[in-house]
Amino acid sequence: MSGQQNKKKGFDLGLLKRIFSFTRPYSRTLYLVMTLGVVLALLAPLRPYLIKMSVDKYISNNLMQGLIWISVIQFGLLIVESALRFLFSYRANWLGQTVVNDMRNSVFKKVLFQNISFYDRTPIGTLTTRTINDIESINDIFSEGIISIVADILTIVAIITVMMVTDWRLTLVCLATFPLLIIATWWFKEAVNKSFQRVRNAVAALNAFAQEHLTGMYIVQAFAAEDGEMKKFTDINTEHRNANIKGIFAYSVFFPMVEIILAMSLGLLVWYGASRIMNYGATPGDIISFVLYLNLLFRPLRMMADKFNVLQMGVIAGERVFAVMDSEENLPNNGTLSATDLRGQVEFRDVHFSYKPGVPVLRGVSFRLDAGRTMAVVGHTGAGKTSLISILNRLYEIETGEIFIDGRSLTEYDIYSLRGRIGIVLQDVFLFSGTITDNITLRNADISRDKVEHVAKMLGIHDFIMKLPGGYDFNIMERGNSLSQGQRQLISFARALLYDPAILILDEATSSVDSESEQLIQNAIDTLIKGRTSIVIAHRLSTIRKADEILVMDKGIVKERGNHNELIAAQGAYFDLYTAVEQKKEKEVF
Ligand SMILES: Nc1ncnc2c1ncn2[C@@H]1O[C@H](COP(=O)(O)OP(=O)(O)OP(=O)(O)O)[C@@H](O)[C@H]1O
Ligand SMILES: [Mg+2]
Repeated sequence: MSGQQNKKKGFDLGLLKRIFSFTRPYSRTLYLVMTLGVVLALLAPLRPYLIKMSVDKYISNNLMQGLIWISVIQFGLLIVESALRFLFSYRANWLGQTVVNDMRNSVFKKVLFQNISFYDRTPIGTLTTRTINDIESINDIFSEGIISIVADILTIVAIITVMMVTDWRLTLVCLATFPLLIIATWWFKEAVNKSFQRVRNAVAALNAFAQEHLTGMYIVQAFAAEDGEMKKFTDINTEHRNANIKGIFAYSVFFPMVEIILAMSLGLLVWYGASRIMNYGATPGDIISFVLYLNLLFRPLRMMADKFNVLQMGVIAGERVFAVMDSEENLPNNGTLSATDLRGQVEFRDVHFSYKPGVPVLRGVSFRLDAGRTMAVVGHTGAGKTSLISILNRLYEIETGEIFIDGRSLTEYDIYSLRGRIGIVLQDVFLFSGTITDNITLRNADISRDKVEHVAKMLGIHDFIMKLPGGYDFNIMERGNSLSQGQRQLISFARALLYDPAILILDEATSSVDSESEQLIQNAIDTLIKGRTSIVIAHRLSTIRKADEILVMDKGIVKERGNHNELIAAQGAYFDLYTAVEQKKEKEVF
């Protein structure tokens, strides 16, 4: 069997070892299962042997008393064997599920703490597959893979040994069909393996397609693209069916073939066995027990190829899961400075930043914002405004230059402590499925309902929330689709204010909202930024005008700085834009 193992592409004993390292906390169960496997293998040839004894010793000689005894022993053995088999399969599966549970937790934990740039490169569908499907395949290693393969091999060895000892010539004749069986098994393994791979790819494609199109359903329907998308889905689905049918074909051919080979073995047994009885003193009991041995032998052999595939799949899945576990993309959190008493002075000194090497996004940004003041950042789309605030939160690492908060370098702070003191409201608000309260507190159980209501009242959005069915318990559907964009932003204001941050970052949504929401939002923004350092990526003229300082960004550099009056007086880029907007009487500048 080891020959077969080595031939497998991608089969890696090191990986298997690593998968098994997850059983360490449960080593007693592992040893128990392994011991049971050995015991069951040794017990396997026992019953046929007892049957041979009853035939040869007791039935042939008409010893009724002995026959009853040996039958009782056999019955007892059956009970013991069944009980052990139950324990074996129950504990092996328990082990699998427990290991899988641990693994899934540690993968998700790893994913949670992954650097944001990791998500720019890794499709969400892939991560879902890693945490759900791949880990499920690893479970199969325990329930159907390695342990039962080892147990099966032991059983086979035990049975063949007993057969050989009983009558080696007869054994060799019976097993003359083995080359056929090996060829059939090899073909089956390859066929199933290929279709397995295809099925897996098709499932991944189905998942990704469904996920993406359900998320983008609004666009699909708004552009009446249903037919085109349906066609694409049908194609992927057909591939899935065809791949499965290929696999089913292999099964449908292989199992009858094994039956035929077994029948051939039995035929050889009867033919050669008869001459053994007549000429060499073999007993009828030998023949009967050989029939049973052959049956016992073929049962695990039939499943062996399948189990090897399962094992291989599990190991491949393990490799992928470990790739996620090993990715060292966590930001270095070497800072020790606590941000608890942050005043909130921010300084950028010649900051250069890019998402991809060679494609600069910020090209030497410098500014200084004193604690408690408000800065509006304006600029055309793609100017680098959102990037500017992402690096302040250390979601991404800068290339050169330095960022200071309260005069200390950003890297000196403990990252989580720092993020806890920076409140952030993003351009497109993401809401999780759950209640309004869940979304404001992010399921932090330490925050009381009173506190949530207090914050909502401060922001002037309590009445709006109370008007929703269920009020604070209003259930937000997946991704917050049940609320308008303005309403979602109001919820995220509360989320940001709740932690009373020293520095507030607000990426204003560009969309115009109705005048009632507009008023609510403006008042809420005023409350939010009062008394704390605020960086507002602003589109509303009202917000920009009120700011202590305006930063005009253009293609990754700071084009102008100053307050509204200064910039108007300077008659530069800001002045041009402002006058254009004034003429059109619009509310938004950029
Ligand atoms: N995650 C990312 N990976 C790679 N490039 C990015 C990423 N996010 C933004 N960029 C690029 O960085 C540049 C600046 O983007 P940024 O989001 O900072 O612009 P912005 O000023 O916020 O624009 P908008 O007003 O449209 O929100 C753009 O050219 C954009 O293509
Ligand atoms: Mg932006």
